[in-house]
Parts: sequence; C-alpha cells; structure tokens
Amino acid sequence: LAVVIDGKALAAKIQKVIRGEVEELKRAYGVTPGLAAILVGENPASEIYVRNKARTCEEVGIHSEVHRLGGETSETELSHRIESLNKNPAIHGILVQLPLPKQIRESEILATVSPEKDVDGFHPENQGRLLLGEPGLRPCTPEGILKILESTGTEISGKKAVVVGRSRVVGKPVAIMLLERHATVTLCHSRTRDLKEEVGRAEILIAAMGKPHTIRGDWIREGSFVVDVGITRAENGKLTGDVEFDTAREHAAYITPVPGGVGPMTIAMLLANTLKAARSIHGVALEG
Ligand SMILES: NC(=O)c1ccc[n+]([C@@H]2O[C@H](COP(=O)([O-])OP(=O)(O)OC[C@H]3O[C@@H](n4cnc5c(N)ncnc54)[C@H](OP(=O)(O)O)[C@@H]3O)[C@@H](O)[C@H]2O)c1
Repeated sequence: LAVVIDGKALAAKIQKVIRGEVEELKRAYGVTPGLAAILVGENPASEIYVRNKARTCEEVGIHSEVHRLGGETSETELSHRIESLNKNPAIHGILVQLPLPKQIRESEILATVSPEKDVDGFHPENQGRLLLGEPGLRPCTPEGILKILESTGTEISGKKAVVVGRSRVVGKPVAIMLLERHATVTLCHSRTRDLKEEVGRAEILIAAMGKPHTIRGDWIREGSFVVDVGITRAENGKLTGDVEFDTAREHAAYITPVPGGVGPMTIAMLLANTLKAARSIHGVALEG
C-alpha cells in the first residue's frame, strides 16, 4: 500500500520555519510582512479559502487584511483598490481571490497587481519568469506540489511525469516546474485521446482537473507517486479528489489524500511567498 502523504503535517512544519523567519525579520529589520486578500462578490468556497489564508497568516505573525467588495464592483473600482495596495508600505503580498464576477476581466486585473507583491504568481511578468527559469514569485499550488515530492526524497530528474489539467493556476506551471527539474513531462487535458494510457505511463502523476474520481485506481502505474490536486465538494459537503483513492493506493508508492494533501501546502506556500516578497521589497538578502 502507498504511503499517504500528510500534507497538514508537512505544512505545519513549513509554517513553523516561516514563523521563526517572520520574527527574525521583525526583530532585525522592523518589518512585519503583510498580506491583503481581495474578495469580490459572494462565493461560499472563496469565503472559506480567504478565511483560512487570513487565519494561517496570523498564526505565523504575518499581518493580514481582507478587502471585501460587492458583487457589482467594476473593473475600474477593483483596479483602483489594487493600485492603492500596490502603494501601501504595510502590504507586501496582494491576492485577488478567483473566480471574479463576470463583468471583470481576470487577465486585466491580475496584470494590475505589482509583480513584486504578486504572491499568487499570476502576473504575466512572473509567469514569464517561470517559463524562462528566472527567479520570481511562483504560483503556490505548484510550489506546494514540488515540496511534497521533495519531502520524500523522490528523484524527479529523468522520471516520466504526467500532468492532467493545463490551467494557469496548476497544470501549466507545475508542468514547467517539473520540466525545470528534468522530468520528461506529458501535459494532458480534456482533448487528450487516451487518458488511461497516458496515466499508465506516469511515474509521477499530478491530477488537476476538478473531475471527481476520473482517474481510476487500476490505471495507476506500480510504484508511482500520485499527487491529487482536485477538490470537488459533493452535495453532502464531502471533498473528493480526481483520483480513486482506495484502489490507487494499492498501486502507487506515495499518494496525497483529499482533503489534507495539496490544500494545506498551497497555503503554506502563500505564506512563504509573502515573506519572500517582504524581504525582497525591503532588500533583505535571501538565505539558502
Ligand atoms: N489543493 C489546492 O490548493 C488547489 C488549488 C487550485 C486548484 N485546486 C483544484 O484543482 C482542480 C483543478 O483546478 P484548476 O483551477 O486547474 O481547474 P480548471 O481551470 O477548471 O482546469 C481544469 C483542467 O482539467 C482539464 N480537464 C477537465 N476534464 C478533463 C478530463 N475529463 N480529462 C482530462 N482533462 C480534463 C481541463 O482541460 P481543458 O483545458 O481542455 O478544458 C483543464 O485544463 C479543481 O478541483 C480545483 O478545485 C486545488
């Protein structure tokens, strides 16, 4: 049976380190990292995400603000709010919780966040830097996935990695990050002709579709590493991943659960990015 990765424990460990570094930044430089989350309109899932992010910030000593704007907010109003946060010296990280209401163009808004405060890594400059392999702020979920792989000492170089899903948030950036670590990467999506065949070749499988239990346990390659990013809330409130967990566990060597796998690591990486942004804005050299 596969080892089940405890994402919560791993995130807690990382948060403890961040907490110490936040304290050190305050002590030595008088800087308290600050994160502003902007929530536009009412979306129960987004409410939960933003609340969790704010709470976790407080746990590690990061100042956090939630800016709630009405569902009728215009693109101009939202960009004015972002511009004022761009100028606010107490704020080092700005995140715009997605999805945004229909009247607002997502790409336009993400491009107004100052790249040095773009802790979600969605600004075109940071996305470009990622593609070029240059330092910058990188998307949190892919960063969390890489940390999960690294936590087990699994070798990535030379491995066949299959990513299912090609979104800007997860699939595309994680594929680039695996490629950077010398995996041989296949990127699958809804037009992929034979998903079962592609999945069957994966030594590292990243499932990021948001389609519950689409990946059958018996498709999984023996001894592989399965990272399930998908989160779908069933009518009974239960969260379900993209992979059939129980049967996949019989084939994989490592597997992440839903919930308690990638989710907590995403938040840990958001904190790490906020700390990194605060250091970089204040010219504090990065260690390691
Ligand atoms: N744990 C976390 O912290 C975290 C963070 C972010 C997202 N998530 C979860 O991860 C999932 C994906 O999120 P996302 O934002 O990347 O979603 P998304 O933007 O909806 O993208 C889904 C991707 O999956 C592909 N896809 C859909 N059905 C498929 C199928 N039957 N076979 C193969 N590919 C298929 C789509 O292909 P096309 O491009 O062809 O349409 C698309 O590229 C969601 O459940 C989301 O809730 C979790």
